[in-house]
Amino acid sequence: MLREIPRQRGHWLLGNAKDVLPNAHQFVAGTAAAHGGLARFRALHRTLYATVRPEDVRHILFDNVENYVKSYHYRSTSVISGWGLLFIDGNLWRRRRRMIQPGFRRASLRPIAEIAARESAAVIDDWPTRQGNDGAIEVVADLRTIALRTITRALLGIGLDGEKADRFGEAVSGALKVLGRRNNGVAWPFWMPTADNRALHDTRAALDDFLMDQIRARRAALAANEETPGGILESYIGDPELSDQNVLDETKTLFTAGFETAATALAWSLGLLADHPEVAEACEAEVDRVLNGRLATFDDLINLPTITAVAEETLRLFPPITQVGRESLAEDDLGGYRLPKGSTILISMYGIQRSPELWDAPEAFRPERFAPERRDAIPEVAYFPFGAGRRTCIGNNFALQEQTAILATILQRYRLAMPPGTEMRESLRVTLQPGSALPIRVTLRKAA
Ligand code: HEM
Repeated sequence: MLREIPRQRGHWLLGNAKDVLPNAHQFVAGTAAAHGGLARFRALHRTLYATVRPEDVRHILFDNVENYVKSYHYRSTSVISGWGLLFIDGNLWRRRRRMIQPGFRRASLRPIAEIAARESAAVIDDWPTRQGNDGAIEVVADLRTIALRTITRALLGIGLDGEKADRFGEAVSGALKVLGRRNNGVAWPFWMPTADNRALHDTRAALDDFLMDQIRARRAALAANEETPGGILESYIGDPELSDQNVLDETKTLFTAGFETAATALAWSLGLLADHPEVAEACEAEVDRVLNGRLATFDDLINLPTITAVAEETLRLFPPITQVGRESLAEDDLGGYRLPKGSTILISMYGIQRSPELWDAPEAFRPERFAPERRDAIPEVAYFPFGAGRRTCIGNNFALQEQTAILATILQRYRLAMPPGTEMRESLRVTLQPGSALPIRVTLRKAA
């Protein structure tokens, strides 16, 4: 006989709708933990389940994966991205994943480190001229530009000039902010002409126009045997099973999944490094020894384990995607508890990756947890910022290489420090961000 999943008390009408806002990730993780790791709560009319139990991760994402599809949260993001890999399920997903995967194999990713290093070197070049009186510069917008230019060059093989990058980046970030509000609150249907909905439709139109032009021009150039700029996109254009619309949806999905997540993770890493000078110094020593003043390439990454560990520890403490959501197709047995058919369950990486049962001093920033000799001992169900099981992030290697190369480029040039009184505050806007501004004091380490 299965037991009922413990219920979190709430308001008779609203349930826990007010508690969920503004930082839903903390509420989800905290509520599950308070009830032994698995709990249910209600936000207005919706009942939701939350877990921080590694055994549920194993069950839902691996052992009984056929019983689950993506939760409704993903459907609203697909308004911007179209029906790309992140959102589809079943056989369509299986076929698509096979088609998209080759673009993300290690060999195809060889250029990423170099692209990321070059794009970041260009953006950070003028930092000394932009410092305020306290020596600080505002890094959030720059990190977004670096992430956007890196993914654009990797996917499309082209550069984005400063103004275009800013507009494009703001449109995507703005849309994600609106979607975040929708997922955690009451939302009007997409067809209603509210200000938020109009902004979403405008962003989608801007993305569609820009990318469809790229796809058509590329298809024509490839057919005429003309030289093309390259990029991951091209491997999809040659695929007879993918229409222009499919390629558009997949490219938009890669953009939306890979841009804001990367920018957010970078912001946390810089903040943590600025706050932990001893870690930053170890990274500086590593980067000087390995790169000796030049920009990082793919072959250098393996020799930058300290910086890679910083990136991984950042993703443990502040996973940009804090939880994954699934819907059960049939009733399930979660270690003796009954999960009804059609339930939405949130698996909190944020909660699991900070669990005192799984981690020593879970709130402390200790990159040495991810030192190569210790890394393999970390179970996948205790640390999965890129998701786990067959729906694991297709861009996980891309992202880690990118993070490492960008951090190396910044640390090679600048010493970072946190201006007194600066606090990084968790703010959930689809991705988990350290607020919308992050001033960091930078000092030039060497003549460039
Ligand atoms: C730090 C950066 C990143 C983080 C934290 C991250 C996180 C995630 C997570 C948690 C999932 C799984 C969602 C689920 O199971 O429901 C996912 C899936 C996905 N990610 Fe990422 N991601 C990152 C970077 C990227 C990049 C750079 C790309 C592409 C260029 C990308 C493309 C995708 C795609 C296409 C999926 C769907 C895969 C599938 O369902 O088969 N991500 N990501």
